[in-house]
Amino acid sequence: MADTWNSADKFNREALQWDENPQRRAVALVVAQAIIAAVKPKKTMHALEFGCGTGLVSMEIAPLVKTFSAIDTSQEMLAVFQEKINTSGITNIETSCTDLSASTETALKEKRFELIYSSMTLHHIDDTSGFLNRLSDLLSFGGIVALADLDLEDGLFHDDPLEKVHQGFDRAELAALLQAAGLQVMSFKTIYTFNKTNRAGIAAAYPVFLVTATKNQPVTPE
Ligand SMILES: C[S@@+](CC[C@H](N)C(=O)[O-])C[C@H]1O[C@@H](n2cnc3c(N)ncnc32)[C@H](O)[C@@H]1O
Repeated sequence: MADTWNSADKFNREALQWDENPQRRAVALVVAQAIIAAVKPKKTMHALEFGCGTGLVSMEIAPLVKTFSAIDTSQEMLAVFQEKINTSGITNIETSCTDLSASTETALKEKRFELIYSSMTLHHIDDTSGFLNRLSDLLSFGGIVALADLDLEDGLFHDDPLEKVHQGFDRAELAALLQAAGLQVMSFKTIYTFNKTNRAGIAAAYPVFLVTATKNQPVTPE
């Protein structure tokens, strides 16, 4: 049961079994492939993933960039990820238990990234508009934000009816919020569909989009 937007306890409980779910591994791989195809990560890039969880997507992207900041609000998800990092030989990943949506959070204040992305995390963050503004501040000019998440759903995707989440996103509304945060939408694509029996016992399809957006250098008047 969860009655707050802070989902750390839930994910702490689920961390050790997280990677056992084949659909989670499948969607993570598809998201990684879609981001790689859309963004073409380079060894010069500084990348940030928020809501990295156990690193299912991060482990695919980190080897392609220069530095990789992986943040999450669940210590236990990060502990599983850190174990993978330790045995992988990958040396450019820095993990941190950080909630970027908290107004008091300053851990990344001085940093800028050429790539910021997430997979299935945006719907866990209450103030989408404020959060996109925060991402925009952290993005370099010419950088790309890539967000994979659920399209507007019937409210039955999550098993716990009390879990506080957005019930997916309307693409036009999310595009408007990105625009308002100073980010120009490049593309919106359906990249995956969860086929699952929802908590009402109905077999349903839940599409996942990847939206990419960039931050252009402001034009200074002559
Ligand atoms: C559905 S899981 C996805 C995990 C991972 N991206 C994956 O695809 O396996 C959402 C993750 O977002 C994290 N999370 C939730 N709210 C967050 C926030 N405000 N800041 C950072 N991470 C957050 C959770 O702890 C969890 O690990």
